[in-house]
Amino acid sequence: MLTRFNLKPNVFVKNLCVHLGRAGRAAGALVPLPYNRFMATELPVLQASDVPPPLDPELIKELSVEIRELAAERNAIILAHNYELPEVQDVADYIGDSLGLSREAEKADAEVVEFCGVHFMAETASILSPEKRVLIPDLGAGCSLSDSITADQLREWKAKFPGAMVVMYVNTSAEVKAETDYCCTSSNAIKVVQHIWAEHGEDTEILFGPDMWLGAFVERATGLKDDPERAARFHVWDGECHVHAGIRPDDIARTRAENPEAEFLIHPECGCSTQAMEYVANGDIDPEGVHMLSTSGMIEHVRENPEGEYIVATENGMLYPMRQAVPGAKLIEANRMAYCKFMKMITLPKLRDSLRDMKFEVKVDEALAEKARLPIERMVSIG
Ligand code: 13P
Ligand code: SF4
Repeated sequence: MLTRFNLKPNVFVKNLCVHLGRAGRAAGALVPLPYNRFMATELPVLQASDVPPPLDPELIKELSVEIRELAAERNAIILAHNYELPEVQDVADYIGDSLGLSREAEKADAEVVEFCGVHFMAETASILSPEKRVLIPDLGAGCSLSDSITADQLREWKAKFPGAMVVMYVNTSAEVKAETDYCCTSSNAIKVVQHIWAEHGEDTEILFGPDMWLGAFVERATGLKDDPERAARFHVWDGECHVHAGIRPDDIARTRAENPEAEFLIHPECGCSTQAMEYVANGDIDPEGVHMLSTSGMIEHVRENPEGEYIVATENGMLYPMRQAVPGAKLIEANRMAYCKFMKMITLPKLRDSLRDMKFEVKVDEALAEKARLPIERMVSIG
């Protein structure tokens, strides 16, 4: 079985305008992304083998007991990202967003950190907790966004803009972080960029990556869009997460029409985030009803109004922890195909094997970790 994300190229071309990272930015122009640029990133295709078969409830119970026993034996803390399978979240000590989990790992009084998430997250935990043994149940759990920039590519980019400050999303490899001045997350990207302008001057050249949608969001939210001269010094890498890029402006239009009372909770990596900001700017949507949030930010937000109605634009695993937090809320998926196959590679049998056999270790070499820690610590000190 093959299922395609519901990408609509005609709607995409008609609706979408962003500052292009290179030529467009130099001209200070708002230019539509060419359709073939988008095609180059591949339409995400979900294979039946990407979806793990559901486990029998009795087996879930048995495995969960075994996993908790192994965790106690190993003095391990189990961390699970918000997109993980429900049964994996249920057995974890902490559930959270990418950075929050690494910080839990840092705080924990445990010898072993079992990371149920993707590889860059386990690496971040190893960078922040070099004395702990960090395990991931499946080494193949990668991330298309993190893969969209390599350290060599970043070095080449930096060579073209000597003196520029590099801001990279935490969804990057340890090697990329080691070439970075400041990390950021979806919840603090604006703050980090504003901090750089405050500390190093408003005209500081910035290389921002690897997510172009988050970059476009920062450009709009900081007013760069209306200041072509400064915008020309803010360069955005044209990477993206295939899952979030697949949540299109059309999804907003459709779910809005179907649920006129609902608020929008949008992860800034989404391909619809720029459009949502345009709707707000044009007065089509009440700004009160649109929130650009990290995954954990979404949970905090719905807790404020647990009976509310929300359209959730992110990977759909997110609906599980949200439902647990606010069972009375109406939660609507912006695109029901938003599915991260990498996150779902972490299953209970693999988690049990990982703790039992102490595999697969993710260890960032100390010299590299030292360099990669600096941009994370700078970000954390900004908040
Ligand atoms: P958060 O940091 O918001 O959890 O996002 C991580 C991620 O991988 C989004 O797809
Ligand atoms: Fe990476 Fe996207 Fe999956 Fe998040 S949802 S882990 S950014 S591929």
